Amino acid sequence: MLRTVLLGPPGAGKGTQAVKIVEKYNIPHISTGDIFRENIKNGTELGKKAQEYMNKGELVPDELVIDLATDRLLADDCRNGFLLDGFPRTVYQAEKLDEFLEAHGQKLDTVIDIEVEKEELVTRITGRRVCKACGASFHVVNIPPKKEGICDLCGGELFQRADDTVDAVETRVAEYNEKTKPLVDYYTKAGNVVTIDGALPLDTVFAEIVKALGE
Ligand code: AP5
Ligand code: MG
Repeated sequence: MLRTVLLGPPGAGKGTQAVKIVEKYNIPHISTGDIFRENIKNGTELGKKAQEYMNKGELVPDELVIDLATDRLLADDCRNGFLLDGFPRTVYQAEKLDEFLEAHGQKLDTVIDIEVEKEELVTRITGRRVCKACGASFHVVNIPPKKEGICDLCGGELFQRADDTVDAVETRVAEYNEKTKPLVDYYTKAGNVVTIDGALPLDTVFAEIVKALGE
């Protein structure tokens, strides 16, 4: 049983570590960014609304996110816990999540905060390539796929996210610092946050996360 949240700026490695964490702890990976991108791909009303904000690098308004996330937490596969990636992202979202968990007799275990400095974030994000089929992330320099443009895991085609431009990254980092970073304090007050140096190699970061979450 593990109920946890990954905090950290865009490009810190949340999605990359999430894949490894959910495999080890056998819990679902819930990424609100992925849910929005799926809606954009399928042309839903929600996708159309979210896309306007996402492409500029701005946060989607709280009212479009909160029910979406908490409804997902009601699904059967969350009974043994969950990993939230990209939610909550504002203090208001965190308060609403706390209310939801309390109403269901649950609480969060350790919250993981992955920190990386801005220069490195920009390099990571502009070099990121994501698999269209399975969602795995690669990086043209740091974590190159064996064959250019092709996913190592499933053979799918790699693409660049619409918000992985230099301009949108500036806004995303600014949004993080202004609206999401205060959550580190919020969870510090609750006494359950561990900050991890996300600039370390991928496997070292994962080992630190496992140390924080417990075997
Ligand atoms: P979201 O999809 O959550 O994106 P993000 O927070 O901007 O984070 P990223 O996915 O860009 O980074 P990551 O930390 O997952 O890094 P990754 O592992 O890929 O959100 C997108 C948008 O949706 C938001 O801007 C907002 O508009 C909206 N949204 C979503 N949720 C919302 C919410 N709750 N409220 C409001 N709006 C919301 O790694 C990045 C790169 O680095 C990769 O290339 C990877 O290969 C490489 N890398 C990873 N780890 C390492 C390492 N240790 N060393 C070297 N390279 C590494
Ligand atoms: Mg991600």
